[in-house]
Amino acid sequence: MSPGVNNESFSKGNIFGTKNIFINAIEISKTICKSKLTNGDIAVDCTMGNGNDTAFLCNLVGEKGKVYAFDIQEIAVINTRNKLQELNFLKRAELILDTHQNVGKYIKGKVKLVIFNLGYLPKGDHKITTKKETTIEAVQKCIDILEPNGIILLVVYTGHENGKLEKEALDSYTSILSQKDYNVANICFINQINNPPELICIEKVCPR
Ligand SMILES: C[S@@+](CC[C@H](N)C(=O)[O-])C[C@H]1O[C@@H](n2cnc3c(N)ncnc32)[C@H](O)[C@@H]1O
Repeated sequence: MSPGVNNESFSKGNIFGTKNIFINAIEISKTICKSKLTNGDIAVDCTMGNGNDTAFLCNLVGEKGKVYAFDIQEIAVINTRNKLQELNFLKRAELILDTHQNVGKYIKGKVKLVIFNLGYLPKGDHKITTKKETTIEAVQKCIDILEPNGIILLVVYTGHENGKLEKEALDSYTSILSQKDYNVANICFINQINNPPELICIEKVCPR
């Protein structure tokens, strides 16, 4: 299957091009992934979970690209492997049972895009969740391996206490990144109820 074409489950919108962009943090992150990634790119999914994001990235990087995906739970690796097998994407991915602060142990070159979908595995053990200290350390490590024009996307769930703490820590960390070197944006839905997820984007500025 070629990246991004003739594949309903990864469609770019309907034929009239009227698909909204600002539906929620995940949809915006997908739009950004589509605009950044092309065949042959290297991407990282720092929170593999059930493999939805990993599969989405595998589709965009194409046959020549590669997706490194991390999770600390074996069930996440099993579920993701099954999903990728069904989609014939296994050759495009390396599934790693390890914490995301260890990205540098597995990835030696630079990467175009990194995604974090923070929190816990839906329908899984809610006690096994991302944590502010390790999330910040992982973001730092990912910044080190990001190509110029590359981007880190973080979907943050502020509706629970741990997510709130993560958001505060990420705000403190990202707000002091040098403006010369990074474009940092925080997208939140100010007219939605029930603390909808927010999207933090850290884009490495291209040298002129
Ligand atoms: C919201 S889920 C991710 C959903 C996933 N992206 C998907 O498409 O299904 C968050 C995941 O982060 C994982 N996680 C928590 N702490 C982690 C860590 N330190 N390193 C890597 N993954 C971690 C959890 O095990 C959980 O599977």
